[in-house]
Amino acid sequence: MDRYEEYKKLLKTMMSEYRYRHSLGVADEARKLAERYGADVEKATVAGLLHDIMKDQPPKVQLQTIEDSGIILTPVEQASQKLWHAIAGAGYVRMKLGIRDPEIFDAILYHTTGRDGMSRLEKVLYVADYTSCDRQYEGVEHMRELAKISLEDAMREGLRFTIQELSGLERTIHPNTIFAYNELVCDKLRQQRDSAV
Ligand SMILES: [Fe+2]
Ligand SMILES: [Fe+2]
Repeated sequence: MDRYEEYKKLLKTMMSEYRYRHSLGVADEARKLAERYGADVEKATVAGLLHDIMKDQPPKVQLQTIEDSGIILTPVEQASQKLWHAIAGAGYVRMKLGIRDPEIFDAILYHTTGRDGMSRLEKVLYVADYTSCDRQYEGVEHMRELAKISLEDAMREGLRFTIQELSGLERTIHPNTIFAYNELVCDKLRQQRDSAV
């Protein structure tokens, strides 16, 4: 059995059918985006497949995995249960699956918040999570169009959407999300200035 099949078998034991379909969709989308934007295709597929591995696990298990991985949560992270699966997922993949690749670790770790200075692989996974074939939110077609044109444009749109949604619900916004958004907006403004000269 190849390694993808082994991971799929494991995923089936850890998540709902709905989440399993999503994981396959994100893996497929991440592979395509990696091909388009020159990221490592195999790493993108693995990260896509495993990014939500802890999402259907009980919060207690997620927290235990985070602790076992030696990761200390900040107060904002403690208050945002939605972020735990990404942190626990990165820890699980490194600890239990023995995937030592730091790029895959970071891609899974930051797939929900984003951060500034993201690698190509991190961006690919972040965007793939929004544009995979199973996604059905309002505006998904626009996101898919953006993802065909520019990874950064799609990222900025995803971050804008997240910040708007979280602030509307009066939820915390992780500082990394703000850093990622600001960096991309600054880059865009700089490009506009440069092309106007
Ligand atoms: Fe996720
Ligand atoms: Fe996801």
